[in-house]
Amino acid sequence: MMKIGIDKMSFFTPPTYVDMVELAEARGVDPNKYLYGIGQGKMGIAAEAYDIVAMATNAANKILTAEDKEQIDMVIFATESGVDHSKSAGTWVHDLLDIQPYARVVEFKQACYSATAGIQLAMGHLTMHPDSKVLILASDIAKYGVNTGGEPTQGAGAVAMLLSGDPSILAIETNSATYTKDIDDFWRPTYSEFAYVDGKYSNEAYLGTLNSVWDRYKDQFGAQVSDFEAMLFHVPYTKMGRKALLELADEMDETTSERFEKYYDSGIVYNYVVGNIYTGSLYLSLLSFLEQGDEVAAGSRIGLFSYGSGAVGEFFVGEIQAGYKDALLKEDHEKMLENRIKFALEEYERVLSNPVSIDEEGNAALETKHTNAGDFIFAGINEHKRFYKKL
Ligand code: COA
Repeated sequence: MMKIGIDKMSFFTPPTYVDMVELAEARGVDPNKYLYGIGQGKMGIAAEAYDIVAMATNAANKILTAEDKEQIDMVIFATESGVDHSKSAGTWVHDLLDIQPYARVVEFKQACYSATAGIQLAMGHLTMHPDSKVLILASDIAKYGVNTGGEPTQGAGAVAMLLSGDPSILAIETNSATYTKDIDDFWRPTYSEFAYVDGKYSNEAYLGTLNSVWDRYKDQFGAQVSDFEAMLFHVPYTKMGRKALLELADEMDETTSERFEKYYDSGIVYNYVVGNIYTGSLYLSLLSFLEQGDEVAAGSRIGLFSYGSGAVGEFFVGEIQAGYKDALLKEDHEKMLENRIKFALEEYERVLSNPVSIDEEGNAALETKHTNAGDFIFAGINEHKRFYKKL
């Protein structure tokens, strides 16, 4: 059977971050709570010029060749930080990156889960159209607000994945298990700039959904944890994925448990310094595992748990492809993280509480400070129309 999966992938996070020790001290919290209890060292912050469109464009720009842009016939933009109720954020990306016009573009929403739905749609599409390519973008800004319980679990960034037949990185298996239950663990009403969350309940719902999909997967396909070389999870903050590993601990022998721990550690290197990027978080963890972890043998199977509050979850499996390390952009990603600037807390608070405001004519000029040369940025609004430019 034809293999379908991730042929290329990359991520982007804005050039500014908040240091978690400084944040803890300002909030009168023991820094170890953030560093170890929650498991975050830095938190990516998106200044005005980096909205979800700009971040996704920058992520995808690193991987797409002119040939890819001719072959892409579908762009799926997964986000829960939408900038328009009607227009898909992907339409701007399609234009900015010069993707051929005979492509369909759509935006998907289901909290942090929707990029996984994008992968499933792409799988079916590529089965029917094996010579095409699908671009999946997962881009979000996680905002709970200053002095809230969720404040240390914010972040900003985008992951771009190019799916095709004969993938270079990870082939996705067709068997998966999904689960949906209408709950209110985390949500953001259309009138609210910030997310509402019942933190403890969201942790329980995440773990409950993991059990539901994992049990279903085992029942349907006769699997056990040791079938997998590694297990990766949605990582809203790095402690959450550790709780997920612990949840499966009584099904592991010592060797499996040690292996999973080791790979989990390599799978959170990026998440630890980027923070929560909602739809992209599982895929940032996958990228971190692929780039920062020891090389694993071709054919190794990786279990992946995707979770989106509200709530939908899916357990699915990827198969490592020979030579996958050569298809990655490890150095580029490390350089991007090294070159970031630490935001003073006042500046971070200003950015967080100051959504772009438009004048009576529907115009807004945006500041371009805290931007990197060469990046695509959100440049402003003209008669209610957003516009972007490349610096
Ligand atoms: N040193 C080390 N660890 C410490 C500590 C210290 N000084 N103080 C507290 N901790 C630990 C706690 O023991 C706890 O560990 P545990 O989860 O393993 O029990 C952890 O830090 C968090 O402490 P807690 O008091 O539970 O934190 P909180 O009430 O501030 O809430 C979240 C944490 C994650 C629930 C909150 O930030 C939140 O709501 N985030 C957004 C929701 C979210 O991301 N949900 C995920 C599912 S999608």
